[in-house]
Amino acid sequence: MEYYIGIDLGTSSVKLMLLDGEGIIQKTVSRQYPVSYPHSGWSEQNAADWWNAICNGLPELLGEVDGQAIRGIGTAGQMHGLVVLDENGAVIRPTILWNDGRTRKETAFLNETVGKKRLFALTGNIAFAGFTAPKLLWLRENEPENFAKIKKIMLPKDYINFLLTGVHCTDFSDAAGMLLLDVEKKCWSREMLEICGISEQQMPALYESFSAVGKIKPSIAKKFGINRNAVVVAGAGDNAAAAVGTGTVGDGRCNISLGTSGTIFVSSDRFSGNEKHAIHSFCHADGGYHLMGCILSAASCNKWFCDEVLKTADYQFEETTIERNRLGRNEVFFLPYLMGERSPINDTDATGMFIGLRPNTSRADMYQAVLEGVAFAIKDNLEVIKQFGIDVKASCLCGGGAKSKLWREILANVLDIELNIPTTEQGPGYGSAILAMVGSGQFDSVKTATDKFFEIKETVLPNKELVALYADRYEKYRKIYPAVKNLYRGIKE
Ligand code: XUL
Repeated sequence: MEYYIGIDLGTSSVKLMLLDGEGIIQKTVSRQYPVSYPHSGWSEQNAADWWNAICNGLPELLGEVDGQAIRGIGTAGQMHGLVVLDENGAVIRPTILWNDGRTRKETAFLNETVGKKRLFALTGNIAFAGFTAPKLLWLRENEPENFAKIKKIMLPKDYINFLLTGVHCTDFSDAAGMLLLDVEKKCWSREMLEICGISEQQMPALYESFSAVGKIKPSIAKKFGINRNAVVVAGAGDNAAAAVGTGTVGDGRCNISLGTSGTIFVSSDRFSGNEKHAIHSFCHADGGYHLMGCILSAASCNKWFCDEVLKTADYQFEETTIERNRLGRNEVFFLPYLMGERSPINDTDATGMFIGLRPNTSRADMYQAVLEGVAFAIKDNLEVIKQFGIDVKASCLCGGGAKSKLWREILANVLDIELNIPTTEQGPGYGSAILAMVGSGQFDSVKTATDKFFEIKETVLPNKELVALYADRYEKYRKIYPAVKNLYRGIKE
């Protein structure tokens, strides 16, 4: 039997997965690492923590398996984070993450001075605070000594591939989120590099996600007992990899992920998009494209409310306090903007908020509002996707939040779509291992592989009565943000 390793470099932890040649998950191992919030709205991580976590988890993952049977490794990662290395290959500063909101000024410069129309023509996207280009502008302005040291620019999972192979590369799906790539043409935008004060020599080489970029370094192969001929593929941004992991490949398929962030991802054979919406137009890991709405806080709202406010680790018990007949009837609303918001409102100043509290409001009502608020925020994105003429009737669902039966039911009814839960709920790790299978020659395309492996375990159907109740709730929810948005800046200053 041959084996493949999928590495999902998430925000709260890395998940390592061992897949056999039949696509069966043999083992998963996870290791956590911290996020630091040095200022309000900032978020950073040490790249060394990712690597240490991987090195720590690999021996357990490999266990009794013969490392010589490992044929390929694929990495999926949190997107947009800025990793910068100096001429000695050392990391210059902590990584500024995808949900960091420090670049309000730089984002405004890009959207207003360069202009959304020009940005869209160059990259297929407009600027968002979490994207990589505004981070480079921030670094140039605020840490010129660090900016001057930059020899190599890369994204989080590219750093892992760099350590595994010594190759400085990225893939199109992840590169698309830098706002430096001409997404439609799949090449770096010279003009965007110039705007950010960087050169193409500092940028990683571009590959399709399923292309082999090299072999694992002999020293690493020896350290972990892995076959020296194991190939490493370019890998993918976590959302594109999750889409591969849930069989969301080819034209018009949808995947929703409830991870730290929440995303709604529609795959497509053709590039599409426009500068009027805060929906991303990115490359897919199957060689095609996708549209994606990203909310910055999804399962992280659940985690925050349980860990920090309720001080409980028993999320499941908390769910049992919500009575079924309260679904669609909650008078409490929650805006899930704990880290500001990306799509579709693109507002770094937005904050989380409860509204509708009364003396009889219960803990369960507030918890329900948190789960519902995330579902409504995803619906905000679905509504924009519909404006592209895309009619989403069904979607896969993955990510930590997908494990909650109650949350699935709320989401299916708020969105009024069928939700399919795949047999393997391990989105990005599974997807990246599949990319490794393609890159090592076991399959001729991503589609052939997912057609063979993908299966639905369970389907959650919307219920007419609940859909109507939630449609009414959503009409109320969507009025809240426009009414309060002008207050946020004042609160912050
Ligand atoms: C997507 C995004 C997030 C991160 C989370 O644009 O920013 O989904 O990739 O890991």
